[in-house]
Amino acid sequence: MPTDYEKVYQQQRHALGDPTPEFVTFFDGYNKQNADVLDIGCGQGRDALFIARRGHHVVGVDRATTGIAQLLEEAQAEALHIEGVVADLSDFSPVGTYDVVVIDRTLHMLEADTLLDVLERICHAVRDDGFVLIADEKSNLPAMRAFFETDSHRWTALIDRQGFLFVQKKQRSLSRYDIAKTFCSGILLKSFSH
Ligand SMILES: C[S@@+](CC[C@H](N)C(=O)[O-])C[C@H]1O[C@@H](n2cnc3c(N)ncnc32)[C@H](O)[C@@H]1O
Repeated sequence: MPTDYEKVYQQQRHALGDPTPEFVTFFDGYNKQNADVLDIGCGQGRDALFIARRGHHVVGVDRATTGIAQLLEEAQAEALHIEGVVADLSDFSPVGTYDVVVIDRTLHMLEADTLLDVLERICHAVRDDGFVLIADEKSNLPAMRAFFETDSHRWTALIDRQGFLFVQKKQRSLSRYDIAKTFCSGILLKSFSH
């Protein structure tokens, strides 16, 4: 039976311990200031809190209301820029776009097809040059790797080992059609201005 995290959080604060070191290392080397970060399945916020302490704006999503309440309590006490959303990932679509999406040991709790739907919806919300940072059970990584590889002109894997998959979204290159459209609208604008 899957763990009931609502109960776990009711019984224990900081139930999952310290932030995940690989995520800490990523943010140590991340130069952007005041980034927008989405934490999918944030739980009590062991990652969301350290990320917000670095000055970033974090939106944390989880279905465990106790986890979100505890996260917001700590955020308020430290005046951190964190929003909490209670939602089920099976029908959650991010509002807005993000520089970094963090998914720490959450995807293995979803059914295989829900997992891919969630990734699809999240990927649309990642800005060009933005990142998706995934930590999960090693056995789940092949499906996630395959997901990003089907769109390999948009995603580059930065780390892919030992249950960690960090990918970056490349800028969309202009198609010949886009270039032709831009060129033609320029000519049209010019002819109207005469
Ligand atoms: C192993 S915990 C990880 C929590 C947090 N990412 C961390 O590393 O501390 C998995 C989290 O995913 C959440 N979760 C699992 N399935 C979910 C779903 N369908 N919708 C929203 N949250 C879900 C759980 O409530 C739990 O907080």
